[in-house]
Amino acid sequence: MKIISAPDYQSMSRKAANIISAQVILFPRSVLGLATGSTPVGVYQQLIEWYKKGDVDFSAVHSVNLDEYRGLSPEHSESYRFYMNTNFFNHINIPLQNTNVPNGLAPDVEEECRRYDHVIGDLGGIDLQLLGIGHTGHIGFNEPDEDFDKTTHCVKLKEQTIQANSRFFKTMDEVPKYAITMGIKAIMQAKKILLVANGASKADILYRSLFGPITPAVPASILQLHNDLTVVADEEALRVVREKCPEAIG
Ligand code: PGA
Repeated sequence: MKIISAPDYQSMSRKAANIISAQVILFPRSVLGLATGSTPVGVYQQLIEWYKKGDVDFSAVHSVNLDEYRGLSPEHSESYRFYMNTNFFNHINIPLQNTNVPNGLAPDVEEECRRYDHVIGDLGGIDLQLLGIGHTGHIGFNEPDEDFDKTTHCVKLKEQTIQANSRFFKTMDEVPKYAITMGIKAIMQAKKILLVANGASKADILYRSLFGPITPAVPASILQLHNDLTVVADEEALRVVREKCPEAIG
């Protein structure tokens, strides 16, 4: 595990974007595993800037996203497909047909999960997986206490998540109750993993994930067993790691 510290969000985003652009420059046909949430927005902005300057070319890249809400159309402003298009894909030259996000409207969810596993398999697996981390230690929508050996599956969202999301919807009925997520197994099979975290609210969970016991109660703790994990985090998110394991920060 390599831990890279950054003074602030912008620097964290730049350092993480550097790792992704190096991957794409060295291996233009890379398969990138991508993430949503607030943390990676700055990473995407930095990559867009470098793309516009002509420094990086995404024309041969394929992507697979971690998750999608069940029941939301790609046009819905809260869907992860919409997030990816508006925050990243629409601003670079990746062919949209090379980008994959689970289909939240698939009538048969089990079939959609199997299809998604096949998409990943047919691409030859993920070369570099970008991850954020939730306050519970979730990665993708793999919430605490789920099995580590799951492939793509449908999850019932925790009440806490549903409540938190309700601010984005007009009525409670519209708030998604389920999501489709890549499982921990597929994430762990990625050749390289890049975890980004920022802000004081991530300090405890980041420490527990990277140095605590490996347990399904903290899904991200499994990442300790990955042989090519890079963590890029700002100083606020690294506060507890710096306090307890300063020698781990490179
Ligand atoms: P955040 O979400 O980047 O919005 O904090 C992270 C996650 O839940 O994976």
